[in-house]
Amino acid sequence: MENELSRRSFLKSAALASGAGLLGRDLSLGDIPLPTRAPNPKPLAIASANGLAATAKAMEMIAAGSDALDAVIAGVNIVENDPKDMSVGYGGLPNEDGVVELDSSVMHGPTGRGGAVAAIRNIRNPSSVAKVVMERSDHVLLVGEGALRFAVAHGFKEENLLTDEAREVWLKWKENLSTEDDWLPPHDANARDIGERVQKALRLHGTINCDAIDLNGNISGCTTTSGLAFKIPGRVGDSPILGAGLYVDNEVGAAGSTGRGEANLLSCSSVMIVEYMRQGKSPTDACLMACERIARQTKELRLKDDNGRPKFNVNFYAISRAGEHGGASIWSGSQYAINTGEPQSRLVDSAYLYKREK
Ligand code: GLY
Repeated sequence: MENELSRRSFLKSAALASGAGLLGRDLSLGDIPLPTRAPNPKPLAIASANGLAATAKAMEMIAAGSDALDAVIAGVNIVENDPKDMSVGYGGLPNEDGVVELDSSVMHGPTGRGGAVAAIRNIRNPSSVAKVVMERSDHVLLVGEGALRFAVAHGFKEENLLTDEAREVWLKWKENLSTEDDWLPPHDANARDIGERVQKALRLHGTINCDAIDLNGNISGCTTTSGLAFKIPGRVGDSPILGAGLYVDNEVGAAGSTGRGEANLLSCSSVMIVEYMRQGKSPTDACLMACERIARQTKELRLKDDNGRPKFNVNFYAISRAGEHGGASIWSGSQYAINTGEPQSRLVDSAYLYKREK
């Protein structure tokens, strides 16, 4: 009721301001609209395909009354802590120097706030740090050494995030990177040409995006990743960039991404998806439009196949305020995780722009 009154008072003030030709002047603080409750909230959580456990956890918390942001962060913390997922958090694949650098962003629909960290080292839960940036600083994005110092100041524990398994994958990459350098893979005395590029055999991109609607109809999201494997130190992908790897508007919905961050950074797809939904598109159609936009914007020949299509993949996930969900990828074969309150989450096929031939 209080929210509804504040909203009405805002709308009245805005109409008066408009009618009196006052737009462009600051509204007083008392006129800032407070979040409204969705008419019939349909709680749900979606995530990239590696988010089965994350969405189940998020929905368990939402059913118990948690705010959607706390729920999605608790969900992705499971994946950040899991050394078997080599695309996120602890055990993520490192940069070209063998050092794990993590990116994450969060966005809280009801307050319109967001926080993010990029290229942060030694902290396994960058999503939780991103939330502290949002709640306990006047900034939105902290990077590198500054992000680490901020995290330590707030009690986060520093640790080596490189597991033996991730180190071995990195070493294999390094030893096979070139026949010109001095790093050699295991070989016998008869070997001649040692070293071949092996990136194609490795999974270079991976990330988790998780978005949810809580019992109050409030929407939040989080994206977290170790980023592109073997990247140049300091490389930042789309995940910690609000508007690119994540965007939430409590009045419309949320969207997030996984896949080639460079392509998404150049198209800011998550905010576009939310805007397409505002214009009436379903989450799936909005995600497909973002894929089309990336395909159109990809001009460099090195990134395109013989048919002019992007060689890489980007995946999008979206929920609308009404509780619809959808996902789409440039290339077929992707899925996303969904939970609407069941003990187990399930995977759903994403729509796609192009069908993979094999
Ligand atoms: N989408 C994750 C990254 O490119 O870092």
